[in-house]
Amino acid sequence: MTEQVSTLTVTDNRTGRTYEIPIENGAIRANTLRSIKLDESDFGLLTYDPAFTNTASCRSAITFIDGDAGILRYRGFPITELADKSSFLEVAYLLLAGELPTASELAVWESEITHHTLVHESIKKFIDGFYHDAHPMGILLSSVGALSTFYPDAKEISDPGLRRLQIVRLIAKITTLAAFSYRHSIGLPYVYPDNDLSYAGNFLNMMWKATELKYEPDPILEHALDVLFILHADHEQNCSTNAMRAVGSSQADPFSAAAAAISALYGPLHGGANEQVLRMLTEIGSVENIPAFIEQVKSGKKKLMGFGHRVYKNYDPRARVIRQIADEVFKVTGTNPLLDLALELERVALEDEYFIKRKLYPNVDFYTGIIYQAMGFPVEMFPVLFAVGRMPGWLAQWEEGLLDPEQKIARPRQLYVGHEERPYTPIEDRSPDFVGASDSIAALAAQAAPARPRR
Ligand code: COA
Repeated sequence: MTEQVSTLTVTDNRTGRTYEIPIENGAIRANTLRSIKLDESDFGLLTYDPAFTNTASCRSAITFIDGDAGILRYRGFPITELADKSSFLEVAYLLLAGELPTASELAVWESEITHHTLVHESIKKFIDGFYHDAHPMGILLSSVGALSTFYPDAKEISDPGLRRLQIVRLIAKITTLAAFSYRHSIGLPYVYPDNDLSYAGNFLNMMWKATELKYEPDPILEHALDVLFILHADHEQNCSTNAMRAVGSSQADPFSAAAAAISALYGPLHGGANEQVLRMLTEIGSVENIPAFIEQVKSGKKKLMGFGHRVYKNYDPRARVIRQIADEVFKVTGTNPLLDLALELERVALEDEYFIKRKLYPNVDFYTGIIYQAMGFPVEMFPVLFAVGRMPGWLAQWEEGLLDPEQKIARPRQLYVGHEERPYTPIEDRSPDFVGASDSIAALAAQAAPARPRR
């Protein structure tokens, strides 16, 4: 991308002074605002951006999204082309290395990943310690974090060879841990990896193998899962990637950073959304109930899960690919009755003024849950599948952050809106209504902010 340098002229009406601020790549550096001061004792102007809706936290060459145009590219390649022509492990290589691999590079990479899928036997004991109905996502995030204790060399984050080793370990072992977390939650014995199978095929083996000597994945389902992993592999600075980078910025090892990213993904507004979509569709029950449900959404009583996106204000390109693979999957599994409901819900919403005005379109999660369910995955496994697919993206972003000379420990500022200094009240002097509603952050923030908030 060519760098355009131009400037922004700002006049501070408090002082009458004018400042010229450079614009690079369509952004100003927030730190340049610090020179805008009332006087020498002033800290300088801050930007206030809760939830980072208009703040770039890094420069990245990995993933490009144009939310208005519905474009998603990894390292310049359109997601639709990668979903059509590539494989998940090739995409993982691309995200991490920046270029597509040659045939021999890909063969080495695939072999490395395949030969790191085993986990230390003690991890099994660790997982055994979870309560029988523990959510597999809770097991996954804990066991990925626990891996750091098995690999003390992971702390050597400035050694490129050791970094690569942890990257291989994480991409390889997350399928094993994901499958083990499921098998534990239903009380089945763990299945060890099968090195003859592809990445997705082996994952299906570790999930579903019963008493047969050799598990043979259905090639259509294996391919569909591989494509779903590709679609989830990266998505620039989303909540979990931001967590990965933020924790990584303290120079924590990648297993600990990945555990934080998985934790972020666990939330219903992020990786938990596809689970919520399925629950929502089940609650709606039938096509006749859609208008009443839409009315509840419009009056703010409900949310249409799987719709809307912080960045996409157009059809999520991943949702298009998913609709196509849904057809393939349903040919094998038989159709999912919730699909007709979802299609009708989408049609009604896309014609409704409420959704048109707010540019709310189906996102990646709207159809994935229906496919996963048809493939036999329980809803608790949906965010786990998302985590497996996202691992290469997290790692590529983590490494990019570490190697970026402009980055340092992530540490945002705040605008302090709390009390001025006040004396401590001894407990015997506190009346029953001592802690009042007026102490809530919202109430304090609603009060007139001090002219020069503390930092
Ligand atoms: N259903 C109903 N209304 C929605 C909506 C949804 N799924 N998503 C957004 N809106 C509405 C908001 O209420 C708001 O309306 P208002 O302007 O009248 O207040 C407007 O659209 C803008 O939404 P906002 O919450 O500011 O967008 P955001 O960028 O902060 O949120 C999401 C993005 C993804 C968190 C949000 O769209 C959402 O919660 N979607 C459902 C969960 C989901 O599918 N998540 C997966 C993301 S991949």
